[in-house]
Amino acid sequence: MRHLIDILDFSPEELRELMDTANDIIANPGKYSEVCRGKKLATLFFEPSTRTRLSFEAAMLELGGSVLGFSEAQSSSAAKGESVADTAKVISCYADIIAMRHPKEGAPLVAAMNASIPVINAGDGGHNHPTQTLADLLTIYREKGRLDHLTVGLCGDLKFGRTVHSLITAMSRYEGLKFVLISPEELKVPSYVKKEVLKAKGIPYVQTTDLEGAMPELDILYMTRVQRERFFNEEDYLRLKDSYILTPDKLQNAKAELSILHPLPRVNEISVAIDDDPRACYFKQVLYGKYMRMALILKLLKEAGTL
Ligand code: CP
Repeated sequence: MRHLIDILDFSPEELRELMDTANDIIANPGKYSEVCRGKKLATLFFEPSTRTRLSFEAAMLELGGSVLGFSEAQSSSAAKGESVADTAKVISCYADIIAMRHPKEGAPLVAAMNASIPVINAGDGGHNHPTQTLADLLTIYREKGRLDHLTVGLCGDLKFGRTVHSLITAMSRYEGLKFVLISPEELKVPSYVKKEVLKAKGIPYVQTTDLEGAMPELDILYMTRVQRERFFNEEDYLRLKDSYILTPDKLQNAKAELSILHPLPRVNEISVAIDDDPRACYFKQVLYGKYMRMALILKLLKEAGTL
């Protein structure tokens, strides 16, 4: 049974195949509108979400399938103490595929080990968010025409931002990448990501607190919000939350071809005055996320022998 728990579960060739399918869906939506007729996606969201849950649901509906699920732990039997393992076994009796978000790192992996249907990690704690990475990769590919030979700046909460960890891991497999890691001292990329991904593969990276200083060399600027829900104390969050606010004046020295991404939700870290800048890609990124999730559902159901 194939699952998507970590972005490394898929080879670069498989990611390319998913992007090809997503591009084909964009070009020919009618061709895919009935392919999942009779199939069910369960969205098990133990943490809040707008984009990921609703884009999974929209993806399955646009493939002709159906959706069921819950959007908060309190409305599921987790509130009565049911384990993730038992939940996965139960949902395997009702649905053909699961998308799970959970505050505990590793919970979707536990679900995958106990389910008899494919499980997709829709975000686990501060760990990984591989389907956001699918959206990010398609956005970069469509904007730049390549995933290699790019200087990628990641800015904000690089410690708790799970989308950052998955994106670095995914992009580390392409040639000619350089990462510029822009964050406050307290919110640097975790050591395990630097050791197991960047240093292990000899990928050049710099760590800085200076967004404007880094700006001129960037091809991609990936902004992130400070993850309030992962902080142990509110004072630290309040002190750090506005560390970086991207405003038009900060783009003065940016490349004309810079692409600005953000996984969203945005709090304060990108001024709305940037939204009309042609370099702002974050709402396109949302749309591409739906198409990549459609491609992912198709791939996993086909590999499970359900389609
Ligand atoms: N990007 C993202 O995961 O957004 P949601 O938390 O709204 O799903």
